[in-house]
Amino acid sequence: MRTAEERSASSTDESSQQLRLALPQRHLALEQDAEWCVFDAGNGWEEVRFHDYGDVYAIPGLYEKLFYETLQCNSPATVRRLLQASLKASGETPRGLRVLDVGAGNGMVGEELASIGVNTIVGVDIVEQAVRALDRDRPGIYEAYFITDLTDLPSATRQKLAQYRFNCLTCVAALGFGDIPPRAFATAYNLVATGGWIAFNIKEHFLNGSDATGFSGLIAAMISQGILDVTTRERYQHRVATNGAPLHYVAVIGRKAADVPETMLD
Ligand SMILES: C[S@@+](CC[C@H](N)C(=O)[O-])C[C@H]1O[C@@H](n2cnc3c(N)ncnc32)[C@H](O)[C@@H]1O
Repeated sequence: MRTAEERSASSTDESSQQLRLALPQRHLALEQDAEWCVFDAGNGWEEVRFHDYGDVYAIPGLYEKLFYETLQCNSPATVRRLLQASLKASGETPRGLRVLDVGAGNGMVGEELASIGVNTIVGVDIVEQAVRALDRDRPGIYEAYFITDLTDLPSATRQKLAQYRFNCLTCVAALGFGDIPPRAFATAYNLVATGGWIAFNIKEHFLNGSDATGFSGLIAAMISQGILDVTTRERYQHRVATNGAPLHYVAVIGRKAADVPETMLD
């Protein structure tokens, strides 16, 4: 059986080889939500901002070439590895997981989970191009995939998601920076059964109490009020920035002990 890395490499190799990519000058120390690159997919050079994910997914192989080949992102593999270790330590197997993957993008996390034997993976993302890229590049990995806004979840979508009786939430490289806000994370969290596994990563400064996004307060309150039991917390290099500087994230694996109450989000 090929690893997720090997399958990912072969599915995107062809498009990746035809793509040319150039990063900004190294003296520009860009914030992560301001990073950009230029690429040539055969029609001349174009500029794209990293956080315009829809535009990135629309170009076959660009997401993989940019984040994984060039900027050495290893977060899906790191979060999967830590979740796998926690499951093993608890005497559980990945096969029993029913995973809600939030901010699923073009399926890098689903691919990692499938490689360790997880059968039920459901994705949620906010941009339509994500599911198109998934169908193009990694078909068949997700049992279902919803394009929806978790801060304003339509009741029909909520009911469909509830039917999966999720016992695991994954959310990789999608929290903070104007991506998935605390309320959306809490909505996804509350769709997971009590006792279920929670696996996510976040840039370390979003956890250090000084961020304006609300994540540090939410995660700290969830831990101190016994809503999330953390089993593993690991600081690691998520990827490098466009100027080569290391970007450190924290991966958190734990178990859900209770729902996030509405009062915690006010
Ligand atoms: C850096 S990508 C990560 C994709 C994937 N998890 C991975 O590790 O490769 C962040 C993803 O979060 C999605 N996203 C941003 N805001 C969101 C929101 N409010 N609800 C759901 N997904 C969102 C983006 O569309 C994008 O696909």
